[in-house]
Amino acid sequence: MSSLEPKSHIAALPLYPTGASRGTGTGTTIKLSSNESAFGPSPDAERVYRDLTPSLNRYPEAGDNELRAAIAEVHDIEPEGIFGSNGADHVIYLLLSTYAGPGDEVVVSQHGFFRNTLSVRACGATPVVANELDYTTSVDAMLAAVTDRTRVVLLANPNNPTGTYVSTSDLQRLADGLPSNVLLIVDSAYAEYVRTPDYSAGMELVQRADHVAMTRTFSKAYGLAGLRLAWAYGSRRIVDAYTRARLPYPVSRPAQAVGVAALRDRAHLERVVEQNARGLVWVRERLDALGLHPFSTVTNFNTCRFGPPGSGAATRAVAFLAARNILVRPLAPAGLPDFVRITVGLEEENRALIDGVSAFLEADAS
Ligand SMILES: Cc1ncc(COP(=O)(O)O)c(C=O)c1O
Repeated sequence: MSSLEPKSHIAALPLYPTGASRGTGTGTTIKLSSNESAFGPSPDAERVYRDLTPSLNRYPEAGDNELRAAIAEVHDIEPEGIFGSNGADHVIYLLLSTYAGPGDEVVVSQHGFFRNTLSVRACGATPVVANELDYTTSVDAMLAAVTDRTRVVLLANPNNPTGTYVSTSDLQRLADGLPSNVLLIVDSAYAEYVRTPDYSAGMELVQRADHVAMTRTFSKAYGLAGLRLAWAYGSRRIVDAYTRARLPYPVSRPAQAVGVAALRDRAHLERVVEQNARGLVWVRERLDALGLHPFSTVTNFNTCRFGPPGSGAATRAVAFLAARNILVRPLAPAGLPDFVRITVGLEEENRALIDGVSAFLEADAS
């Protein structure tokens, strides 16, 4: 008798390794492994969460109207193009599965967000990899990878785990260069952190073209990763298709209420972005001084190579730091086995990280 088996493309999927949350040492854990915000959510959002009225027996409001109205107001966009979700990973997976399946191709960037590439495979579609230039997405390579089987082009901008980004004009060139039957998904999970003038999260692309969707999350700068809340923005055509494909009530009652409060506290967001920028540069300068030379990043994490290619130093560094309960992200699953990704922490966490990295480099050299 044959046994129960999932579809073959599901059986072939590797498990997605999430960031470590427990070290091998004793004492306080410093978690720099999942690009969460060290600075926490808005106190207003925390208050709303604490004071939620106990109506958990009722389904959430189906259209997320208040949340969508708040997003529309903050970003000055029309609410009809906005759809909520319980996480950017989820909305991206659903968008992919709405437009692509077995036999279809989805163009991704060489070191593009690994979770997104797995989601392409989970839909049964084939990821087609566009080579990068200097660890940065190449719009030319993405356009060259498009065939008549391409249904979606997917990029994270800025990208995780490289932290690099594609400029507004290049993003525009990508949208303009795609056939109008190919969906462009711009995953802008780190948009709030970016302060360079030649960056765009992609909202005006959505307004200009029917075939572009942008996704955003509350997991990063808003400090609400545990809540599971995200949203996307797309043309009426995309909203209509997505709404047919998704399951009912994608945003829980608490997430809707907390999200609105978080959006309205602009001062908190500004403080977080400012503190993050300071921490990012502080860590980068010290890693640089230690000879590790992180990529130029506009996010809330630094990514750098440890040792010469193939030396295994990145794996040893991750284990060494874990023994001090400092958790960072090994990037072998993302195809960068010599690299480590380090989220910005609080000041004392950043100091402990740099002390730990210095101690590792000393120990590893002897
Ligand atoms: C580029 C990118 N997209 C999406 C996500 C997932 O966000 P969410 O927590 O909303 O699922 C992440 C989280 O690390 C990310 O780095």
